[in-house]
Amino acid sequence: MTETPNPHFVIAVDGPAASGKGTVAAGLARAYRLPYLDTGLLYRAVGVLMRRADQGLDDEAAATAQAQMLTADLLGDPGFRTRAAGEAASRVAVYPRVREALLEFQRTFAGQEGGAVLDGRDIGTVIAPDAPAKLYVTATPKVRAERRWKQLNAHGERVSRADVLKDIRRRDARDGGRDTAPMKPASDAVLLDTSEMTIEQAADAARRIVEAARARWITSS
Ligand code: C5P
Repeated sequence: MTETPNPHFVIAVDGPAASGKGTVAAGLARAYRLPYLDTGLLYRAVGVLMRRADQGLDDEAAATAQAQMLTADLLGDPGFRTRAAGEAASRVAVYPRVREALLEFQRTFAGQEGGAVLDGRDIGTVIAPDAPAKLYVTATPKVRAERRWKQLNAHGERVSRADVLKDIRRRDARDGGRDTAPMKPASDAVLLDTSEMTIEQAADAARRIVEAARARWITSS
């Protein structure tokens, strides 16, 4: 086990859907004994809660109200992990007021004593721009679609590989093309392409990147 680097070490992990960023981020959190937040769940929660309340996803005011009411204890809902939840999340994530409503929760999480690991799309650019360790985890759309297809299947969702690939491409375009906090690597993020890697290889590579960042951070602080 790697000791938690004190006093406040934030690891920002960004990247597109099914790139492996969640697995990488959770592994880093275990290794450094830091709390971990999957920020995609916040947007998924807003989208799903709107659907459950029969609200249209094009209603920015309703989405903002859902985001303002969100509490951490809601985030364990398995309904947030579905394919439809991912699509709904990316639709509400374009609204600046929704993003603003979710900002403080994420900043508070990142600001806790000792630090934290957060994964998402804008962690290194907007939520924690001063994080000493930033990774941008990516993989080809085809590889990501295959991974997501397997996950969905394991959860009993029947869908074709071609449709999952379409979902991935649509989400990449929407997340990368929106005006507010678009998905993109921070200028000081290290790129990690997991296309040809196993989970273990990706986790090892991520650890090496963070160790190098930590060494730089210790010398500079
Ligand atoms: O990571 P995940 O696939 O769960 O994210 C669902 C959606 O939430 C993304 O497609 C994106 O639109 C949005 N999101 C975001 N900013 C984050 C995390 C997720 O816009 N930090």
